[in-house]
Amino acid sequence: MIMPKTILETLGFRRNWVYETIVASHPKKGLASAAPMGVWTGDLRRVKLKIYNGSKTLANITASGAFTVNFPKDVRLFHRALASKRLPLIKTPSGLHAVKDHSRLELQANDMKKAGNAVIVTAEITGHRILKNTRLFNRAEALTLEYLISKTKPNVKANELAEYRRAIRKVAPKSEYAMIVER
Ligand SMILES: Cc1cc2nc3c(=O)[nH]c(=O)nc-3n(C[C@H](O)[C@H](O)[C@H](O)COP(=O)(O)O)c2cc1C
Repeated sequence: MIMPKTILETLGFRRNWVYETIVASHPKKGLASAAPMGVWTGDLRRVKLKIYNGSKTLANITASGAFTVNFPKDVRLFHRALASKRLPLIKTPSGLHAVKDHSRLELQANDMKKAGNAVIVTAEITGHRILKNTRLFNRAEALTLEYLISKTKPNVKANELAEYRRAIRKVAPKSEYAMIVER
């Protein structure tokens, strides 16, 4: 039987690759907030995040469980989310907060596990709004370019190359990028 594609497959998600997004969440009472966060999927159905202790996003998701993952059109939105915390947020028909005029997934956290100084959140997709030309940001391509440039430099430090290798394996496991930087 041919299974219909999941929304994550349609978006182009690859298993266990990390994509950089903007998570919008809200406390039980008070203003919604938005913060850059990496997300990934192991099963192409559920979304996972690793959120460090102390962030508003973690407090909000712990309190209300529902949040959105928004896909920036360009890198400047990550900066705006961090610098001003005044991204244009809208309320979705389902009552969540989301970045205005951007593609989004609507999610409900259904598992939260402590992992050192962070929590791994697993969430079910409860809705989505996907615009044309939605872009996924994965760091592996840019990191591979940086790795190759570093390699050509005289006196490059082994730990610098090792750090690129670690990051590339983390954000794009089993990819061509990971193969390029394997020793
Ligand atoms: C591209 C990018 C990705 C990030 N990914 C994460 C992440 O996966 N988990 C996390 O806890 N923080 C991540 N951060 C850091 C948070 O966005 C940052 O700590 C933010 O200030 C948290 O805001 P909040 O307190 O409003 O939740 C990331 C930052 C950037 C720029």
